[in-house]
Amino acid sequence: MSLTIAVIVGSLRKDSFNARLADALAKLAPDGIEFRRLRIDDLPLYNQDDDASPPAPVQRLKQEIRDADGLLFVTPEYNRSIPGVLKNALDHASRPYGESAFVDKPAGVIGVSVGAIGTACAQQHLRTILAYLDMPTLAQPEAFLKADDVLDDDGGIAGSSREFLQQWMDAFLDWVKHHA
Ligand code: FNR
Repeated sequence: MSLTIAVIVGSLRKDSFNARLADALAKLAPDGIEFRRLRIDDLPLYNQDDDASPPAPVQRLKQEIRDADGLLFVTPEYNRSIPGVLKNALDHASRPYGESAFVDKPAGVIGVSVGAIGTACAQQHLRTILAYLDMPTLAQPEAFLKADDVLDDDGGIAGSSREFLQQWMDAFLDWVKHHA
């Protein structure tokens, strides 16, 4: 079964660990699964006054989400929550009221941090938002990752984490197929 997964990374940083994780995760999927990284760095700050005429980057983002079979969120934790750039993207694509691009889209949540908490707080906050947006989100396995443990110097996944992340990816793709 071929699937398209839209990937939203919650960091704009050039050398983002989460962007590296997103790229490495995509390599764990079998042939026929396309991962498309969505841009969120060109979205303006959300302003409800613009709901009637959303700017082009917002229309593009919403269409890309609609075209996808599932969404993969790979995000850092900022101050025990999700980064503002990610919240901005979620707010944009969920509005205007009744025209959210997210409804019924199956989702997965994962992230990597430099700290031992492994993005746990950010993921919990994100799950609350996705539940409100009516997105069925993979519950288990959870993955709270520390950059030093998970990413190797070549942009791949360290040997000790590979089996676990393969299980995570298999569960995520089964989840998307189940809901597609
Ligand atoms: C952080 N960082 C961080 N880490 C963490 O484990 N919990 C936290 O609450 C925070 N808070 C936080 C706030 C802000 C504004 C920044 C810039 C950073 C550290 C974070 O894990 C680290 O910068 C990662 O490298 C960010 O992910 P990317 O950009 O590498 O994907």
